[in-house]
Amino acid sequence: MKDNSNKGILIFGGARGIGGETAKYFSERNWNVIAADVLDKELAELEKSSKNIKTVHCDVAKFEDIENAYKFAEKELPRLNGVFNNVGIARYGTVDKLSLEDWEFTLRVNLTAQFISSSFAVPIFKRNGSGSIVNTASVLGHMNQKTTAAYAASKAGVIALTRGIAVDHALDGIRCNSVSPGSINTPLLKIVAEDIMGRTAEDVAAEWAEFHPVRRLGKPEEVAALVYFLINDELGFITGADFKIDGGSSIQLFK
Ligand SMILES: NC(=O)c1ccc[n+]([C@@H]2O[C@H](COP(=O)([O-])OP(=O)(O)OC[C@H]3O[C@@H](n4cnc5c(N)ncnc54)[C@H](O)[C@@H]3O)[C@@H](O)[C@H]2O)c1
Repeated sequence: MKDNSNKGILIFGGARGIGGETAKYFSERNWNVIAADVLDKELAELEKSSKNIKTVHCDVAKFEDIENAYKFAEKELPRLNGVFNNVGIARYGTVDKLSLEDWEFTLRVNLTAQFISSSFAVPIFKRNGSGSIVNTASVLGHMNQKTTAAYAASKAGVIALTRGIAVDHALDGIRCNSVSPGSINTPLLKIVAEDIMGRTAEDVAAEWAEFHPVRRLGKPEEVAALVYFLINDELGFITGADFKIDGGSSIQLFK
């Protein structure tokens, strides 16, 4: 295996789901990982699972928490090579029903936090002469389901922010790409099923699997593998790109 012991990544939303699996994926390949999240119990368990993972409490809705996560990463990592801006929340509703507070909070957590995080990453990467950012968007950044106007707007914004960072900082040695997952089996899916749709997670997972040509949901470790390849320098010619990882759900018009 390649020696990655001098490399480091900071993962926002790294306690569970896609972020948690990505933390494990990098640590298993000998990277040094900082997972930043609001879920302290899950962070403590993750930290116990690998000597390569350290964790920091961080609410990405708060500027100073993101700043603090970067201070922690600079102190604890041998070098910051990559950042995975992965936090996302779902607040669903039609525009006449969704509150302004929910709209603004969705944009704050899903999009503005990625802007703030990148504003700290870029100067560090400039100093180092290189760095790679991966932002989590969604297939809902490309197309819509009912009641997802705020979420989809935030994710379309992530794809545009990604292109902007890629164009502005290519000559600084910085790459920025986004991943657009389809339905991935994570705790977020359970929240959408139970809290938003009022159904069981199993029921919704089975129904959504049917909409995918591959007839199953994605696994968080499959997204982790994509993030790993995008962060690594072997794919140094890829920047400003968005990658759908969706079992073909966005290429099929009707089942
Ligand atoms: N699961 C899917 O089907 C799916 C599909 C498309 C896109 N996504 C996106 O993938 C990303 C990860 O989603 P997931 O499915 O793993 O969800 P998840 O809820 O399992 O994980 C999200 C993580 O973000 C953390 N988080 C939430 N609010 C936070 C905040 N304010 N500050 C810091 N951390 C916070 C959560 O505690 C959690 O650890 C999100 O951006 C989501 O929008 C998920």
